[in-house]
Amino acid sequence: MNKKIGIFDSGLGGLSILKELVKLLPNEDYLFYEDSINNPYGEKSDEELLEITSKIVDYLLKENCKIIVIACNTATTSCIEKLRNKYPNTIFVGTVPAIKVAYDNNYKNTIILSTTYTRNSKRVNELISEYHNTFQNIINISGENLANLIEENKMDEVNNLLERLLTPYKNCDSVVLGCTHYSLIKDEIKRVLPNATLIDGNIGVAKEVKHQLEINSSISNSKNSGEITFINTKDSKLIERSFELLRK
Ligand code: DGL
Repeated sequence: MNKKIGIFDSGLGGLSILKELVKLLPNEDYLFYEDSINNPYGEKSDEELLEITSKIVDYLLKENCKIIVIACNTATTSCIEKLRNKYPNTIFVGTVPAIKVAYDNNYKNTIILSTTYTRNSKRVNELISEYHNTFQNIINISGENLANLIEENKMDEVNNLLERLLTPYKNCDSVVLGCTHYSLIKDEIKRVLPNATLIDGNIGVAKEVKHQLEINSSISNSKNSGEITFINTKDSKLIERSFELLRK
């Protein structure tokens, strides 16, 4: 049996990373664990997040995964180092807001939009200190319960919240999407901020997964694979929606 790439998120957000992975590594098999029952991760404590994510890692390892992709900024900023210490033989790839991409592209007024947890995290604040300077302004804001509204497909509420959160920043030139759920609502964000470039790190994460598989000689050579399996902890009907979103 082929070993799989295991991915998890607090629901559908991680699909934005899965999409890029499938494009880059089409011969791999994927097991995507959508932890919708525990959404939103962004409102949980470090202890709760470590407990939740450890159970997911145990499950993915039992299911024969060769690498684990934490397709969630909140879980990455909270737990990736603790998980690496707890599972020293497992390869983890995570995701953090792509602040460096905004910096490298010389944007002058960048909004980082992420969950409350990620916004306040040590990692994001370190990245801001690294890249903030006199010529490049960075504003770090919370998307409040946006991830949960996206998860529950409450699009009217998503649009109202985006209006309230983003209208004060009409003059920004870029928005770093610091939560994988937000990549699923790029059109809605663009409607409020038509002149801003939206930045996410999804392609970068996929490239890092490929690199890790290469250096560990774990790339799949099989021509018949490319199977995607979803697990949803809340409602198996969400799996249909995942296949739909993946095809979009
Ligand atoms: N998709 C997740 C992230 O990237 C988390 C959303 C949440 O459950 O709060 O942060």
